[in-house]
Order: sequence, then C-alpha cells, then structure tokens
Amino acid sequence: MFVKAENSNAIKKKTKSLCYFVTEKSDLPLGFPKIDQKLTNSIKEAVKETKGKLGSISIIHTHDMIPTQRILVAGLGPRHKITHESIRTTSGKIAKKVSDIGLDEYCISIPNNLPVNSKVVISSIVEGARLALYSFDKYKKDKKLKTPNLTIITSDTTASQTIAKASSVSEGVLYARSIANLPPNECNPAQMAGFAKSLSSKNKLKCTIFSKSELKQKGFGGITAVGQGSKNEPKLIILEYHGKKDAKPTILVGKAVTFDTGGISIKPADKMDEMKFDKCGGCTVLGVMKAASELKLPINLIGIIPSVENMPGGESYRPGDIIRLYDGKTAEILNTDAEGRLILFDALSYGIKTYKPKEIIDFATLTGACIVALGTNVAGLVSNNKKIADKISKSSHTTGEQVWQLPINDDYMDMIKSDYADIRNTGPGRVAGTITAAAFLANAVGNTPWAHFDIAGTAWIQGGSKEKSYNPKGATGFGVRLMLDYLNNP
Ligand code: BES
Ligand code: MN
Ligand code: ZN
Repeated sequence: MFVKAENSNAIKKKTKSLCYFVTEKSDLPLGFPKIDQKLTNSIKEAVKETKGKLGSISIIHTHDMIPTQRILVAGLGPRHKITHESIRTTSGKIAKKVSDIGLDEYCISIPNNLPVNSKVVISSIVEGARLALYSFDKYKKDKKLKTPNLTIITSDTTASQTIAKASSVSEGVLYARSIANLPPNECNPAQMAGFAKSLSSKNKLKCTIFSKSELKQKGFGGITAVGQGSKNEPKLIILEYHGKKDAKPTILVGKAVTFDTGGISIKPADKMDEMKFDKCGGCTVLGVMKAASELKLPINLIGIIPSVENMPGGESYRPGDIIRLYDGKTAEILNTDAEGRLILFDALSYGIKTYKPKEIIDFATLTGACIVALGTNVAGLVSNNKKIADKISKSSHTTGEQVWQLPINDDYMDMIKSDYADIRNTGPGRVAGTITAAAFLANAVGNTPWAHFDIAGTAWIQGGSKEKSYNPKGATGFGVRLMLDYLNNP
C-alpha cells in the first residue's frame, strides 16, 4: 500500500472513493462542501441512518454528478470523544471496506477543525489503514486481500513527513507480525537468528549471534538448560543500533521461545498450537529495531533476543535440576514450563553487564496468570522505576496498546526464594503468577531502571480479544508502536 498527501480541493478529485468522517449529531460529514442539492440530500439521508456512530460506514454512489465515483462516510462517534484510537479504528474500517469492494485506490479528506491536531489525525489514519490491510496469507494459494493506495487530502504542509514516520512505525509492526505468525516448523531459533541477520544487513545494524557452544562456554545457564531438550539449538541474538555518540543505550529484551510445549512439565494439548506465539516478545524487539533504525532515532538501542524451543525429550532439563544463571546465581527448576524467565534472566544480566544501559525493558508472553488477572486486551507492566512506568503509561494512551502496572516488593521477592538454590523458577502455587515471574527477572536487573511487559494476553488475537479493525487474526505486534512512541519522547 502506498500513502501520499495532497493539498487540493477534495470534492473535485477524480477517485474511486472519496472518504469523509462524520461525528454524531451532525447532519453532514466534517468539512463537506456545498454541492449539488440532490447529492447533498442523499448524503444527509445516509448520515441520518448511521447517526455518525463509531465504526459505521455508508457509501453513496455519485453517478457522475461529481468526479468521484463514490462518497464514503465513516462515523467517528461523538465529537468530544475523538482520540488517536477512534481515528485509527475508523481508518482501519475504511481501508477494509475499500479493499473488500475491490478498489485499488481511495482518498480521505481531512477537515481542518477536528479537536485533535492534524499530525495525530494523519498518523492515526496511516497506522489504522496499514495495520488493517495486513493478512497472514503466506501459506494460502488464494491471496484474498487487496491493498489499495491512499491519498490523504489535507492542507497540512508537513503531512508527507508525518506519513513517512507513521509508515515506518507501521512497517515495524507488520514485520513483527510477519515473523510472529510463522509456524514453529518454519521458525526455529536458527531461523529467528537468520531473520535478525538479514534485517541487520538491510538496516545497517550490528548483529551478533551466540551459538549453543558459545552460550555454554560463556555461562548462559538458563538459555542452555531450556534449549537442551530440542534438536533445534538455542541462539542468543543481539542487534545494535547507534544513532548518537557517547550516550548510554536503552536495551530491549524479547522472549523468543519458538515453540513452548512446556518441556517435561508438558502442557495440555488444548490450544498448544498457540504456543508458536511464544516468540512474540522477540518479534516486538525486531520490529522496534527495524523502525528505530529506519527513522534514524537519535538514540542508542540494543535488542537482545534469547531464542529456544522448549521440548520434552531424553536431553531435556528436568524439575529438580539446579542450574547456574549468567550472573552466577543458582536457580532450582520446579516447573520446566516456567522457561521464559530463565532465558530472559540470562539476556537481562548479560545486557546490563555488557552495555551498562540507562534502562532495560523486556517483552514476554510470560504467564497465563497475566491473562487471568488482566484479560486479553491489557498487558501487565512491572517496573522498579516510576519515571519509566509513567512514561510507558503515557505512550500507551497515545498508541492504544493498553497496560496496567502490577506491584512488586520484597514480599514477592521472598516468594521465589529456594530451599536448595538462590532462587526457584516458580512461586508457591498459582498465586500472583505474573508478579512472581517478574520477581525472578528482578533478580537479574538489580538497580538498573527496568520495565517488564507481560504480553501473554495481548500478543495475538485470542479468546476475549476485542475486535479492532487494525488487529486482524494472529499476532498483533503489541508493543512496537508503544515502544517507538516511548523512544521518540526522550
Ligand atoms: N508461554 C507461557 C505463558 C503463556 C501461557 C502465554 C498461555 C500465553 C498463553 C509460559 O512459558 C508458561 O508456560 N508459563 C507458566 C508458568 C507456570 C508454570 C509457573 C504458566 O503461565 O502456566
Ligand atoms: Mn512455558
Ligand atoms: Zn513460554
């Protein structure tokens, strides 16, 4: 899909579909000019029918009365409730409709008098359209989805830059989705590393991959323990982007378990296929690295992705094992299905020791407990730093990727102390499962400013996921837009 801006008289535009927004309690679309009375009346009738309700769409054929073939009117809901999110979802709806009826291009006319600034309007339109027109059809003979080109008609003279930015951000999300959606037989840790390598050569990032023997030799006891049960060997993927001289980096860490069977503590068969999405945290990091480098953000950014396949077998690690993690701490394994925290621990402590970051932020489909606590539309957030948590919350409101912060303190840290080792990989029973998992990670980060996203519920569309035009079936790319907004606001 190609998106461009144009400063012209919309109603004179020869296009297959000219789109306008309409709000509740108004009889004509926003910025709609005075034209032929007959046509104006038909539009008024259509608006009356949909009442400008959020997500409503009506199409009026013009029969050559004006140059455009159709006028599409899309409802934004009540005027005082217009946000990034309502524009994003409405733009997604428009894009899907235009695609469904088979058009190859359309125009959206932006009014000057919306209650949000035009940068917000334009970037939300671009995001909504690009993200809605994604479908994971790599393995389908009939590729059904048409992706029409979009012209945004606006008097904003900086529109082109806004479009370019929003396009890079959206491409980051789509890239994350495209890897996250891959089946586990086509995305093992080595293949995951391959994707990072090709991204790094396209985007001039530095890329380092640690093999199984290097991981062993360097003391990555968590990654090697979890990875030892699979013939698909574990990898540690490191991407470096340098956009500023002499500045401490931000580190992003992402869990990439390419398939999580649970290992010896094996999972039930029901929905086990969904554990191909257990690599989504790593994919989020890839998406952010891609976009951050394309946007040439003036920061230093390190992406660290521990990647393993968690399998049962004769070589697997077991409940009862005591392993030594990267920083020297020992961990007692009580459940091999609590594997994410083990590989993240190594990645976090390696990152902190190697790069002395100003902050470290991780993304992981870490606990089923997070879904129990918050459902599938809000990610869990645990942090040791109020500034970071507040900034994340702010970005979250901008991007519509919802988060809710959970507490952490010494009582929770005590819950993962082990009788036989320094720490253990599960808490007592199922209580506070998301927080005890985070407490395990907190042992790796110490005083380094840190935030942890548990994206178990939000990384892909699953039971209870709210239907959003711009989040089609499969992986959502949750966190990519949020993190880019965060990094954009120093
Ligand atoms: N990848 C899972 C968490 C998960 C489950 C994410 C379902 C999304 C949907 C993780 O590795 C896991 O298995 N966690 C266990 C931890 C438990 C054994 C302490 C869980 O949540 O059951
Ligand atoms: Mn697991
Ligand atoms: Zn897992």
